[in-house]
Amino acid sequence: MEKPVIADKSPIPVELKKGETYYYCTCGKSSSQPFCDGSHQGTSFEPLAFEAKEDGTAYLCACKHTKNPPYCDGTHNSL
Ligand code: FES
Repeated sequence: MEKPVIADKSPIPVELKKGETYYYCTCGKSSSQPFCDGSHQGTSFEPLAFEAKEDGTAYLCACKHTKNPPYCDGTHNSL
């Protein structure tokens, strides 16, 4: 299985709006981290659509190895 590119080894804080759908980059190639910009084309990766449950800052995983995508779970510390 293809491995994602590690875009960064720390999470990216983003302001989310409750009820809005976002497309999280899972391949790590997007230039618009942590969101999809279509760069996954030609790979086996697909963006992950998720809905924000509340307004506010969320820390989205940039290393792409979290067990709880799109959120950082601290896995970046062991890469
Ligand atoms: S940035 Fe990926 S687990 Fe923290």
